Amino acid sequence: MNSKNKNIFDYSKIKSAKDLEEIVSSIFCSEDLDKEQKKYKILGRNGLIQEFFDNFSYIQNILNIERSDLGIILNRIKSEYTEKLKDEIQDTRNNTNNTFDPTLEYKNQLIGGKHPLSVEVSKINEIMISLGFSEEEYPTLVTDFENFESINIPKEHPARDMWDTFWIDEKHLLKTQTTAFQNSILSRELKKGNDFKPIRAFTTDVCLRNEATDTRHEICFYQTEALYVEHNNSVNMVILLNLIRSVFSLYFDNSNIKVKTRPAFFPFVEPGIEVACECIFCGGKGCNTCSQSGWIEMGGAGLVHRNVFMNADESLKDKYSEYSGLAFGFGFDRMVLLKNKINDIRYFRNKDINIDLFKNTVK
Ligand code: PHE
Repeated sequence: MNSKNKNIFDYSKIKSAKDLEEIVSSIFCSEDLDKEQKKYKILGRNGLIQEFFDNFSYIQNILNIERSDLGIILNRIKSEYTEKLKDEIQDTRNNTNNTFDPTLEYKNQLIGGKHPLSVEVSKINEIMISLGFSEEEYPTLVTDFENFESINIPKEHPARDMWDTFWIDEKHLLKTQTTAFQNSILSRELKKGNDFKPIRAFTTDVCLRNEATDTRHEICFYQTEALYVEHNNSVNMVILLNLIRSVFSLYFDNSNIKVKTRPAFFPFVEPGIEVACECIFCGGKGCNTCSQSGWIEMGGAGLVHRNVFMNADESLKDKYSEYSGLAFGFGFDRMVLLKNKINDIRYFRNKDINIDLFKNTVK
């Protein structure tokens, strides 16, 4: 018998040409195989019919018939099943009215899930909404005016060095900070004059910075930014600090979370502060993740600078002091890191999707 034989069955049981047909038919009717598998098993290069041809003389001997008769039988079986399998497959594919394609197999396939960061973004957004803020979506591709000039960072100003920028052309860039959303909201709302309603706006979006990466820095990361404005002088640092504390204790589900602030310069706020959380990796003692400082910087905050108000509505001129506002912006990936004890921000956008890492950390 031919050594290429792949289908081991008892040839001695084959008594007539009908038995050959039975064998092929049993595969064709099998419920465990789909159409492509049947086609492969019956008509494929190592399929049944080829096997019969490979063992032609052997079968001819068993059946005790003429060579030419066996040839006719095998060719008939072959064309019959070529037709059957071809027809069935074409039938389903040509049926354009049917949007469900039954020829696509769905077996043992992994069902995808949301990226852990997306899951966390929904949580922080819900927290902001629960605090009375409404979400403003804002594009990632912005102008120099939105990202810098309107928020008090004029052209050539050295403060621009704080944000290594991906420039698209002379006017456009990938936003380096969510603060780029402030001008459009302020000009839209301030121009309402007497109809002005207090602003409680936030956005969570990706920002991009053209800088070296390390355990706490990525070129692409989420920021959550809030803007809170009143048509009076009531907004102050106490409200700001309480708000920051609320956001952290809600997100980290821990009202005792240690938050530290210190004065910092951001051109669009006055005064400005930097906000840091105690490093959970070392409990504040100092380690590699926090550069031995015991604290991990989360972002900046402060009271809205008068130039930001004036750039949003020129007509304000001397009236800008009728308004007061606060803003804060946090590197959201860092909050996710801290909450889930992940010690390298680059895991989130690594090409190696370390599924276990996410399974064990982000819930
Ligand atoms: N935009 C600042 C940054 O990206 C953070 C910030 C937001 C600071 C709002 C003050 C007020 O670093």
